Amino acid sequence: MQNKGGVISAFVNPQNDGTLAFIERACLLYDENGRIDYFGEVPAADRLIGYEILLREKFVTLPGLIDLHTHLPQYEFASQGAEALLPWLNRYTFPQEGRFSDDRVAELQSLNFFQSSLSHGTTTTVAYLSAHSRAADIAFSEASRAGIRAYLGLTLMDRNVPEELLTTAADAERNMMKLIETWHKKGLTEFVVTPRFAISCSGALLDLCGKLSRAYDTFLQTHISENRDEVSETSRLFPEAKSYADVYDQHGCLHAKTLLGHGIHLAEAERRLIRERESVVVHCPVSNNFLGSGILPYQNFRHEKIRLGLGTDVAAGYSLSMLHEAKTMTEMAKLRAHFDGAKCSITVADAVYQATLGNAAALSRAHDLGSFAIGKQADFCVIDDSLCDTLLDEEKNHYSALAERLNRIVYRSHNNMVETTVVAGKTVFAR
Ligand code: GUN
Ligand code: ZN
Repeated sequence: MQNKGGVISAFVNPQNDGTLAFIERACLLYDENGRIDYFGEVPAADRLIGYEILLREKFVTLPGLIDLHTHLPQYEFASQGAEALLPWLNRYTFPQEGRFSDDRVAELQSLNFFQSSLSHGTTTTVAYLSAHSRAADIAFSEASRAGIRAYLGLTLMDRNVPEELLTTAADAERNMMKLIETWHKKGLTEFVVTPRFAISCSGALLDLCGKLSRAYDTFLQTHISENRDEVSETSRLFPEAKSYADVYDQHGCLHAKTLLGHGIHLAEAERRLIRERESVVVHCPVSNNFLGSGILPYQNFRHEKIRLGLGTDVAAGYSLSMLHEAKTMTEMAKLRAHFDGAKCSITVADAVYQATLGNAAALSRAHDLGSFAIGKQADFCVIDDSLCDTLLDEEKNHYSALAERLNRIVYRSHNNMVETTVVAGKTVFAR
């Protein structure tokens, strides 16, 4: 149990039809269980008795940002080594992830990662961990202590990576079972079955992942069709499969709780299969730019009714900011439309929707996360947008309607603008 609380500020509230409602002044109240029990006009003072009210009249409150794809052990080297995916993995990623055999590294870097995520307004993170089950246990503990909603996975590899990162299907099963028992759907944490990608997984390991994720109702996250060399290597390793998506499908890994990072180079038949299986393609535009992987045709995928998500993919993505990711999503949609000779229909509102309620829907949590409504979880971040104003005194800015303020928040975002982050009614970050 915690204190009842509330905020009075401007609010951006995503709607189920993909639009945003802009409310220039409103009041949000939440109960001692961290659930919203009022959202609307600022009520008379007696309605507020017993609530600890954060008066943030000058600021903008957004639903908590949801990062649907990121890598905890990679944060330390964010912005290093912009090579293509496969050499980048060998040169930077695998050696760094190997360091998580040291419990102290795992502890300090987990703490740092979750605190940094919260300081960027992220209230839910879906992250890959290293290959070490002790480091995974430490990450879950640190997530619980930080108070972030965390979907975390032990990264599984049984071939084509350095010796110290390898597992076997038998060890993977034992280690996952232990983590599922301890952490799955306990408090704010969930376990995610996490085969790294097809290149580093045998068919037997993928079979186990499909089986376990279905048996224990967990999410399954992996990478797909991020880079052309990766796609060719995958077809060489799985000659019997019709396509990259078919590799995962043949091993039972494509279902409605599957989160597929990237998906840039997916062919039409693969997209149809993914749509039929109701799996989610998670767009990671900053990472795609950094490694030169390509540009996801997000707006085409949306027209094709493929379920979509958005993630930072640190450290191929160089920032944990979902606002920065949203900005890049709009820019890359324009660039892609330009090269496709199409009109771009993706807006700031689409990107902010995707980073909040859209990602909640990808987690099948639209009923309790991603927007403000009575009964939903009180997960939100309060933004001091005077810090991204073009004028020193924001009162003077003629572009001060809430939609215009949101444009500045997205395009001129920087790290210090998040004032407060609240998860399930608990203040977990305050500047
Ligand atoms: N594919 C397999 N592993 C990774 C990873 O760690 N990052 C990215 N961006 N792609 C991958
Ligand atoms: Zn990734």
